[in-house]
Amino acid sequence: MQFKPFMREGFMPLPVAFVSSISDDGVRNIAPYACIMPVLRPLDLICLASASKRDTLTNIRATNQFVVNLVGTDFADKVIPTAKYAPPDKDEFLLSGLTEKPSKTIRAPGIAGSYAWMECELYKEYIEPNYILIMGKVVRLEVADEVLTPDGSLDLQKTRPLMMTGSSKGMHFGTVTDIDHFESFGAMFPDGKDPLHKTYNQ
Ligand SMILES: Cc1cc2nc3c(=O)[nH]c(=O)nc-3n(C[C@H](O)[C@H](O)[C@H](O)COP(=O)(O)O)c2cc1C
Repeated sequence: MQFKPFMREGFMPLPVAFVSSISDDGVRNIAPYACIMPVLRPLDLICLASASKRDTLTNIRATNQFVVNLVGTDFADKVIPTAKYAPPDKDEFLLSGLTEKPSKTIRAPGIAGSYAWMECELYKEYIEPNYILIMGKVVRLEVADEVLTPDGSLDLQKTRPLMMTGSSKGMHFGTVTDIDHFESFGAMFPDGKDPLHKTYNQ
């Protein structure tokens, strides 16, 4: 079956991250963002695609800060309350009933109950008339201890990260499961060694 090119995300499950930010005069904001990706390994950059009319974008431009909150499927019922239009002077923590988790390095607060928090500073913008790519530098990354395996990787079963696909009718929410298949990074290279291994072992 052939689909229209703009139906890409119907077949490409996306993480649903909650981006929290604060306006210049202290109003707290939350918005779900699914168009989000890390920029290569082992960089500390993260890229969000944002429509131009977003309080999130206004706040990031005003303060240079935001938090990417990664959440589990238990946040599915918080997607619409945070995605619905709210005027910029409305506190979206209060509107959605979510609780603040104070950040350590920036003023923009994180969201309690997330399983990971990336405190970010605006690094660069790629500006097009209808959308902006926001490049953030992750300045602090924290993950809840209870979702980590003994070797420090993410326990997908415990976390059940919130994901989505789109269809012609709307958004379908789901999660990912571990298929117990592990490969080292080195496996990609002829000598079996990961050229970046020192970065990870520092
Ligand atoms: C699951 C989901 C994912 C979304 N992903 C994005 C996204 O990646 N980029 C974007 O600009 N808007 C996205 N939106 C829309 C914004 O979350 C929505 O417009 C929100 O009201 C923006 O809030 P703000 O104006 O407070 O920033 C998404 C909405 C939903 C429900």
